[in-house]
Amino acid sequence: MLKNLWYAACVEGELDERPHPIRMLGHDLVLFRDAAGQPACLADTCVHRGAPLSRGQCVPGGVQCPYHGWVYGADGRCVEIPSLEAGERIPRRARVDAYPCAVQFGLVWVFLGDLPAEERPAIPDFLPEFSAGDGAWRFIHGRFDYAANWERVFENHIDSAHTHFIHPDFGNREDPRVARTKVEAQGLGAWAEHSYPPRPKRGPLGELVDEHRPPVRTRLAFDLGGLCVRLAIRMTDTLRQVVFQAFTPIDEQRAVSHYIQARNFLLEPEHDAPMRADLEKIFTEDREILELLRPIAVPEAVKAELSVHTDALPVAFRHQVRRWRQAYGSVRSPDPATAVTAIACPARRAGERWVFPST
Ligand code: FES
Ligand SMILES: [Fe+2]
Repeated sequence: MLKNLWYAACVEGELDERPHPIRMLGHDLVLFRDAAGQPACLADTCVHRGAPLSRGQCVPGGVQCPYHGWVYGADGRCVEIPSLEAGERIPRRARVDAYPCAVQFGLVWVFLGDLPAEERPAIPDFLPEFSAGDGAWRFIHGRFDYAANWERVFENHIDSAHTHFIHPDFGNREDPRVARTKVEAQGLGAWAEHSYPPRPKRGPLGELVDEHRPPVRTRLAFDLGGLCVRLAIRMTDTLRQVVFQAFTPIDEQRAVSHYIQARNFLLEPEHDAPMRADLEKIFTEDREILELLRPIAVPEAVKAELSVHTDALPVAFRHQVRRWRQAYGSVRSPDPATAVTAIACPARRAGERWVFPST
């Protein structure tokens, strides 16, 4: 798993007055709102005796450990040890890793790494529709869980050739060819355009389009910056749909997608549930095959699997992942029976001593 990237953690509205446990990259973290109401994220394991801070409570100074009541601020420093006399010093090592947070597209993002702000990759602006704000778009937020490796899941969403075999509603087994297309590098990712013969009309959307309409055009882009994918679909000159997904590894064998569908048609709320059901049917079809792939993780060597030209986007992704891994190393899940490790946060660059070793 890759560090020094932004990861989508949850929908902002989910953060309330309680601390929330979340596992990312095999590490337990706690999300909460600081005194100013801004999202904060800390390593979840108390340096005193290893209790999960997320089982404690939010207090004015930060988050309070449930075991002996130590309070950690949003910067990860312990600000209160209730068992000490007033005026007794709090040890300098009484701190946990604190990760930068951001809010974009209504999602809370956490930067899991130690790069200073100016060196961090940006969360790509993959959903400009979200801030357009003129009511022309309707959005659905959701999360979808996979018992599959994050790279396998990510690759699936930038893989055009599986559509005809896995998705009967819009794939076409009679003509499963994928036209040769140029893959253009952009940022920490790439994009490609495709066009597809329109599928038979169905549902409420079918009533908005002609039987004989031009091909559906898509633009598919990915970026490592927020580990996200944007699929923009032009169904006609005016009907557009965008499916944005940000992928987060829970550990080596589980991943989650935070998805946002944007559409500029059927804007009434009653269309949300059927739209979501359609989308999740597609994700479910993908998930069934993704959970069967072997090896579970994408092999390290590009040559360990065979790719053809229609795999150009997934191959571009593999190259980006490989480059990032070479630059920053990779994160593995610690064994909870024997060790606690923390993903190094930016404050570790100051060179002080910390209780838990970093990864
Ligand atoms: S384990 Fe957290 S205060 Fe003791
Ligand atoms: Fe798919």
